[in-house]
Amino acid sequence: MSEFTEQNGVLHVEQVSLERIAEEVGTPAYVYSAAHIKGQFDRLKGAMEKALPADRQPLLCYACKANSNVAILKLLNNLGGGLEIVSEGELRRGLKADFDANKIVSTGVGKTTSEIKALLSAGVHQINIESLPELHHINDIASEMKIAADVVFRFNPNVSGGGHDKISTGRKEDKFGISEEKIYEGFALAQGMKYVNALGLSMHIGSQVFTVETFEDAFKTLPGVVGELRSRGFTVSRLDIGGGFPIQYQDEDLLDLDAYAQWVNDIIVPLDTEIIMEPGRYLVGNSGVLLSTVEHVKPAEDRTFLVIDTAMNDLMRPSLYDAYHHIEPVTHRDAPKTKYDVVGPICETGDTFSRGRELQETERGRLMAIRSTGAYGFCMSSNYNTRARPPEVLVNGDQYAIIRPRESVDDIIAQDHIPDWLID
Ligand SMILES: Cc1ncc(COP(=O)(O)O)c(C=O)c1O
Repeated sequence: MSEFTEQNGVLHVEQVSLERIAEEVGTPAYVYSAAHIKGQFDRLKGAMEKALPADRQPLLCYACKANSNVAILKLLNNLGGGLEIVSEGELRRGLKADFDANKIVSTGVGKTTSEIKALLSAGVHQINIESLPELHHINDIASEMKIAADVVFRFNPNVSGGGHDKISTGRKEDKFGISEEKIYEGFALAQGMKYVNALGLSMHIGSQVFTVETFEDAFKTLPGVVGELRSRGFTVSRLDIGGGFPIQYQDEDLLDLDAYAQWVNDIIVPLDTEIIMEPGRYLVGNSGVLLSTVEHVKPAEDRTFLVIDTAMNDLMRPSLYDAYHHIEPVTHRDAPKTKYDVVGPICETGDTFSRGRELQETERGRLMAIRSTGAYGFCMSSNYNTRARPPEVLVNGDQYAIIRPRESVDDIIAQDHIPDWLID
């Protein structure tokens, strides 16, 4: 991660000092590196270009649930990517970032009527269907609108794929996707539907998938299912093989991308379909830091709390998944180390970023950077405790831009309305 370096004793994102950003933008603030995102996109694309024939390159649809700021979407659009979306809101963000609708794929277990209408009106590349009731729902709407829906069925292979229980999505007890038998039923049903084109299958087994073996295990039944569909006379022209590519938060051994690409070439390419991938975290996760200021160093009986000005409402991952995030000082980086429990100011014990973490000794007013917060950071934030959410900043070389301003408490409160009957 060469985009995050110490220069003259201060942590920088590319050429911009985090101390300068804190002075000019304030804290807490999310800060992202454009170069990192470009680098990750190029690495994934490069691995595919090396292993797969030129005419079989995948469409890399960025799973924008990871970080849906329109500037980030525009950056990925400029790089030639497509988009994976899960809501009408994400569709609108994608269109605002100028994505060609024909490069957008839509997933999600509970697409609403208005969402399906918006997807059909926009002309998205495909809708990934998660259940047979959803197939009927889409057919009803498509027939009413007289717009054909291109769909693929999300196959649930009943394999545990993710790095944490709450981010595994491919087990039969998970709410996602359809079993093999129901896939055949779905294709047969779709055949009788005038406004539905069943074109293939999708699979996404979870997030933080560290080994090719896990993909192999999950996808091993896929060629058989494709063969069976074809032998029953159905067309299978698209395979969307999902996301899940991991990043390093601590010291995890990462997926060997070349080995993964080789696996795609050996197993997926021979199935002779268009190939789609949905990387999210991989592209943006390590592009971001959450910049924060120390409010207090609070000695307690058996520990010292480092109370910082960011909290679980800004970054939920530690409280939601017990996720590890590396934390480091922006300045005074050579100070002797001690142990801190790093916590936010919210009224929950869960508002803890780390316990007993070895960190450089620090004091009130100093800056800290919480690393690897480019994915599932800001986009999962909330206004809990009526806290205004932080701004988002995008660094590009020696320049930076505020790509979302800090919220104001006035704006938050202005959304509440007191009904007449409560006013005396
Ligand atoms: C259907 C689908 N595709 C892609 C992703 C992106 O996963 P990741 O960020 O691990 O690449 C997700 C994540 O939840 C997902 O549900």
